[in-house]
Amino acid sequence: MFGLRQGGFFGDSVSATLFPQTSGGGVRLRGLNARDWRQHADHLQRLTPEDRRARFHSAIGDAAIQGYARHMDWRRAFVFGVFVRGTLRAVGELIPMDDPERATQRAEVSVSVERPYQQSGFGKMLMLAMFLAARKLGIRRLHMLWHSDNERMRALARDVGARTRCLGGVMEGVVMLPGHDMPPRMAAAAAADAPAADAPGPA
Ligand SMILES: CC(C)(COP(=O)(O)OP(=O)(O)OC[C@H]1O[C@@H](n2cnc3c(N)ncnc32)[C@H](O)[C@@H]1OP(=O)(O)O)[C@@H](O)C(=O)NCCC(=O)NCCS
Repeated sequence: MFGLRQGGFFGDSVSATLFPQTSGGGVRLRGLNARDWRQHADHLQRLTPEDRRARFHSAIGDAAIQGYARHMDWRRAFVFGVFVRGTLRAVGELIPMDDPERATQRAEVSVSVERPYQQSGFGKMLMLAMFLAARKLGIRRLHMLWHSDNERMRALARDVGARTRCLGGVMEGVVMLPGHDMPPRMAAAAAADAPAADAPGPA
């Protein structure tokens, strides 16, 4: 499936001049596949405890992270990674939410960027890569979840135009993607079904 082919989706190196914080360059964005599981796990394990909680919505230990990366369903998951001088430093995961037997309409996106590389634009780059992949796959609706005190994710969701709503202490953001064949009236109906436009965030 796509998981094994996605190396070619964004195979080209990304110009280092776009990311001056990574001094020295060597920034590369590419799709990950099953063979990358160890690097994926290592990246997730380098997240701070706070960022692990932000990413997985609960405290998660090294063994659980390894199990998560090792057993990812690559037939369904579309994962992109940002490598800095050959080491995986940021990951975006696009996971379809619908029954695999049915046409996929919705997917959840998650992002993780290691602390020293945050605020370099990697989160946004991964988000845009996942949006492009989702459009190519015909996915119409992207969901993202974050804790209400996660200002960085809130900024990222706002930047990509997510409509947000509060579900207890968790925020849900939804981005509607125009389909290749979605008539304007259907797109409007789908958008109306999404949460209300971004309101001032919680305190
Ligand atoms: C959330 C996260 C993915 C953002 O990644 P990032 O690479 O730092 O994001 P970017 O550099 O692309 O910046 C995104 C925006 O957040 C803004 N931002 C960064 N820190 C901020 C802060 N403390 N308060 C408010 N906004 C902030 C940036 O200015 C940027 O907005 P701009 O482009 O309009 O200036 C990263 O912080 C992370 O991995 N956190 C831990 C895991 C997590 O929370 N994942 C999200 C849930 S799945």
